[in-house]
Amino acid sequence: MALRLGDTAPDFTAETTQGTINFHEWLGTSWGVLFSHPKDFTPVCTTELGYVAKIKPEFDKRNVKVIGLSVDNVESHLKWEGDIGETQGTPVNFPMIGDPDRKVSDLYDMIHPNASDTMTVRSVFVIGPDKKVKLTITYPASTGRNFDEVLRVIDSLQLTAQFKVATPANWKDGGDVIIGAAVSDDEAKTLFPQGWTTVKPYLRVLPQPKK
Ligand code: BEZ
Repeated sequence: MALRLGDTAPDFTAETTQGTINFHEWLGTSWGVLFSHPKDFTPVCTTELGYVAKIKPEFDKRNVKVIGLSVDNVESHLKWEGDIGETQGTPVNFPMIGDPDRKVSDLYDMIHPNASDTMTVRSVFVIGPDKKVKLTITYPASTGRNFDEVLRVIDSLQLTAQFKVATPANWKDGGDVIIGAAVSDDEAKTLFPQGWTTVKPYLRVLPQPKK
């Protein structure tokens, strides 16, 4: 069955380009992003991996570990990484899981047979330090993902884990936020003594806390 938000991210042991890892152990107390690629030596995937390598410092800053996966094996990934570094400007600086037996792909429901029965779709799972799934995204093979959006969602997830707020449409770090619907005005007075603007009783807006 497909993984849902709030489910525990399945644990596994797998071969990667950086050695054998046990997923939960490898995550430790960090956040994690697990993302799949349809196939090695393909153009869109090459650009995606190069881009993630380039912005890896942004994931590090947020205490997020990133890990890729495709159904090809580690030997193939390592050969492909040479091309990625050469053409995309940044060497791949995170592990890539080799999954030729589809163990991890099946655990995470990354093969959608009506799209392709041999390749993984472009899945993204964001996993919290509690090992729960916080975000799932699925793109088709022909569309490269927007990893800036993944960072944006992580900013929202990390903010809303700390404060009883939600983030509005197209929010970016530093933008105004919304007081969570379950928070009464009385509780909000304690939580947000700096005050807020009531646009509607259910739409209370305030500057991002601790910014
Ligand atoms: C690509 O990465 O370019 C790609 C991979 C599989 C199917 C279609 C495109």
